[in-house]
Amino acid sequence: MIVDDFMTLEQRRELIKEGVVILRKIVSQDLCRAAIEAVNRKEGGASDAVQALYHNSPLHSLLQDLLGGQVLPVTSAQIAVRMPTPTDQIDIYMGRPTPSPFDWNGHVDGIAIHPGPHENNPDHEAPIMSFSALVGVALSEQIKPDCGNFAVLRGSHLTNAAFFAHQASKGGPLGPGGPDWPLEPWHRQPGSNASRGQWPDVRPRMIPPPTRSMGDSPRYVGESDNGSWWPSATQQLMSKGDAVIAHYLTCHGESRHVGKKPRNMVFFRIKHHLHTEYRPRDHKTAEMRYMTEVLSDPWLEWSQIEVDKNFRSSLGKQTQSEDS
Ligand SMILES: [Fe+2]
Repeated sequence: MIVDDFMTLEQRRELIKEGVVILRKIVSQDLCRAAIEAVNRKEGGASDAVQALYHNSPLHSLLQDLLGGQVLPVTSAQIAVRMPTPTDQIDIYMGRPTPSPFDWNGHVDGIAIHPGPHENNPDHEAPIMSFSALVGVALSEQIKPDCGNFAVLRGSHLTNAAFFAHQASKGGPLGPGGPDWPLEPWHRQPGSNASRGQWPDVRPRMIPPPTRSMGDSPRYVGESDNGSWWPSATQQLMSKGDAVIAHYLTCHGESRHVGKKPRNMVFFRIKHHLHTEYRPRDHKTAEMRYMTEVLSDPWLEWSQIEVDKNFRSSLGKQTQSEDS
């Protein structure tokens, strides 16, 4: 299997357990250089040089392998440039001092940002625009924290999947407005997007409620229910040519940027060939039953890490015994 050539068993276990793994130097410096030049020329994510980061590196074959050989065509990419934060803005978030020095905007992609059919309740019946894997390629050095690093809530893919399974067990639908996830205030302001939230209380609205208590550094502050919740994620330290693979359900965001140079990443969103958007109003259809299973079982689509499914079972037992 190709996966054996580019991921060690330990790396696969890391992906299973943490929901994220970094593959060092998997993209050549030549490919990175060409992509940087294309970005500088203002070419988009669909340009040949940017697409080559995925298609002409081992990433394409690796993701095909991980997802059972059947992945929807990848033709687009997000070019994510994060500029250094001006010094006087470092602890300011959307115009106000942050309660935490750790400025990150954790979220699960595609939740509560695509308005549903209800005019006054945009989250109601809003689709979940999911995918299978997020693949990020570093085009600049991000080897120190607080340089706009890609950051994750480790293990949140499991918490989120468990919550969706819980919503399904109660009859659905999944997402905001479904069981045990009340619709939350929507105050989108010009120039913002929902992932960044609005003061004072909707910052975590793109994250399933149980996951909001997560955070793994001493800089975790605040509470999930009073608007002062600011999770502290694990910043990924990467060099040019490194790739990060994150499970779709892993909460992620970017750290604040106190460095001097722009942080450049390119993100590819990879979908298993049966993957579709989840539409709450169609929850009981066969297509949505499948997507309900996908969102409830983080490894359903990852057929080539069967070994690690066994590992996951052992992890579950380990956690139980640790808890007791
Ligand atoms: Fe995102």
